[in-house]
Amino acid sequence: MASVVVVGTQWGDEGKGKVVDLLTNYADCIVRFQGGNNAGHTLVVDGKKYVFHIIPSGILYQDKTCMIGNGVIIDPGVLLEEMDELSEKGLPVTPERLMISERAHLIMPYHKMLDHAREASLSKGKKIGTTGRGIGPCYMDKVGRVGIKAGDFLDPDQFMDKLKNNIEEKNFYLTKQYNAEPASFDAIKAQFEGFAEKLAPFIGNVSVALDTARKQGKNVLFEGAQGTQLDIDHGTYPFVTSSNTIAGNACIGSGFGPAHIDEVIGILKAYTTRVGAGPFPTELPEGDPIGDELQKKGGEFGATTGRRRRCGWLDMVVADDAVRLNGLTGLAITKLDVLSGQPKLKIARKYMVEGEEYTCMPGNIRKTSLAEPVYEEVEGWSEDITGVRAFEDLPQQARDYVRRIEDISGVSPIIVSVGPDREETLLLRNPFAKE
Ligand code: GDP
Ligand code: IMO
Ligand code: MG
Repeated sequence: MASVVVVGTQWGDEGKGKVVDLLTNYADCIVRFQGGNNAGHTLVVDGKKYVFHIIPSGILYQDKTCMIGNGVIIDPGVLLEEMDELSEKGLPVTPERLMISERAHLIMPYHKMLDHAREASLSKGKKIGTTGRGIGPCYMDKVGRVGIKAGDFLDPDQFMDKLKNNIEEKNFYLTKQYNAEPASFDAIKAQFEGFAEKLAPFIGNVSVALDTARKQGKNVLFEGAQGTQLDIDHGTYPFVTSSNTIAGNACIGSGFGPAHIDEVIGILKAYTTRVGAGPFPTELPEGDPIGDELQKKGGEFGATTGRRRRCGWLDMVVADDAVRLNGLTGLAITKLDVLSGQPKLKIARKYMVEGEEYTCMPGNIRKTSLAEPVYEEVEGWSEDITGVRAFEDLPQQARDYVRRIEDISGVSPIIVSVGPDREETLLLRNPFAKE
């Protein structure tokens, strides 16, 4: 029995969906513990592409239990759409296959309205570039102790009472502060009564279910969303998401004791991307031929919003932050194939900020935005590596690149991914297999 956490080490979109799908093969339970449908996790199985925003990426396996932990925030309409899509593909999502924590908070229509209104009101340079999914306002209500939870679906009086109080306050902000349209109590009431009926059978106590699974010797896989630099505490604040994305939150966001975690795997894209606003020291800005090539070859468009992802060189300052903050025990290096054809590759080792040297991300956003990366240069390779299935068969320079990442970070790669498909993977070590 083992419990394994998978997290993004950069600014999201590292390939968590693919790696989680792959590791699900060895797991019994797959748990999302934070974030909402700002996430977009892509899986390709036998050439068929699936994108999940809220349901754990393990759902394609029929005999596994997927769970949505208390740390996740749920847009019930999006969740039901995702369930319907799976049903249409012949994979009906039953309460045996999916459990939703009664403690997970709900993203309400007014959260999305506030997210849009707030972003629109910010001046250029201050906009976060959120996904517009209501993430910030929903987490604000959670910590503000006025949020509505999935469990409230089972208690209609409590639900309506909370809704009434919230609508009053939110409509004040929407209309008076942001000059926007108010939310309609009646429309939300009607819509959410429908959601409640459909989702009630899925709602339960995820913490208890996980504890039972653990005691039965089951393997548990925790699926992170976003990435370490988007963490609300440790990321490039304020250009972050509104949850803790790092491994520590796997426990809080699901109700699982920290002593039971065995492995933390960090997903590291072989280069760096960022979608939305905020500092990005190794960025190769739009128009840079190498940045544009990585963007095109890597298909770097947001899985949630379709926005063009900003691209840049691998940043080991970012990777080292992730090693420290998550306590990584293994790395999954993804999209190595996208670097094929680059004669030289750059790896950032540290930053210079106003004459000062940094080997970790500065805690001050003004300083981060001034960070000048100091690079080392290594040899690239020209071969297409998507057909390679054994580490030894990679070109020497590709193996050296992976080994360089290992040397700098002090963490061994357990997976090297050379294409989007489940098959296009080199599994060097199975984190669920006991030594
Ligand atoms: P996530 O949010 O971390 O799950 O990542 P996304 O799904 O948003 O973005 C990763 C993208 O890269 C998806 O389109 C994946 O299908 C794709 N992908 C994952 N691993 C690889 C890989 O090794 N090579 C290539 N070329 N694409 C990959
Ligand atoms: P996955 O799980 C990449 C970014 C947004 C924005 C910031 C805040 O697919 O890796 P939010 O809507 O969360 O308030 O937006 O965070 N962001 C992501 N970027 N991948 C994600 O998820 C992201 N989720 C949020 O672009 O900059
Ligand atoms: Mg994504």
